[in-house]
Amino acid sequence: MEGKPSLSWRRAVYPGSFDPLTYGHLDVIRQAVPLFDEVIVAVLQNSRKSTLFSAQERVALIERSTDGQFSVVRAAAFSGLLVDFLAATGARVIVRGLRTGADLETEWQLASMNKDLMPEAQSIFIPTAHEHSYVSSSLVKEIASHGGDVGRFVPPPVAAALRAKFG
Ligand code: PNS
Repeated sequence: MEGKPSLSWRRAVYPGSFDPLTYGHLDVIRQAVPLFDEVIVAVLQNSRKSTLFSAQERVALIERSTDGQFSVVRAAAFSGLLVDFLAATGARVIVRGLRTGADLETEWQLASMNKDLMPEAQSIFIPTAHEHSYVSSSLVKEIASHGGDVGRFVPPPVAAALRAKFG
């Protein structure tokens, strides 16, 4: 019987809703890549939270937006607890991006809870570049829903998918 993989410091999970991926997320991925042998961008599949894109669509958009750029990056959907996904994939590190100091409070709580649930897990925070500090998936969706141009905030595959959703 196959057991769980041993946890590796060289493997990181970058979890989130990614509904959809923005250039801010991509900036965090770009900064995480040189630090690890593998970066798993983990898309939360949560039946209680309604999302614009399905988990499969969000994974596909991440794959298309990172395709060929980073050999160590892969995208996957997960459900349930993040720490269970870490144990299943053998990742020891959780990567989260910080846009501003205001993000720190919720991230601190999340990291502390994950530490409580899985003491071996280590969260690290990566500040996003200033030009992405005000970009969020929610605002991007709002702009796109009103026909605004989101090309400055999201990679081309995401912009095309938003156009397809909102017409
Ligand atoms: O992009 P988001 O919505 O800020 O990401 C939040 C996410 C997905 C990282 C967080 O909600 C999460 O890890 N959810 C899975 C359930 C879990 O493990 N929660 C934390 C411990 S209570």
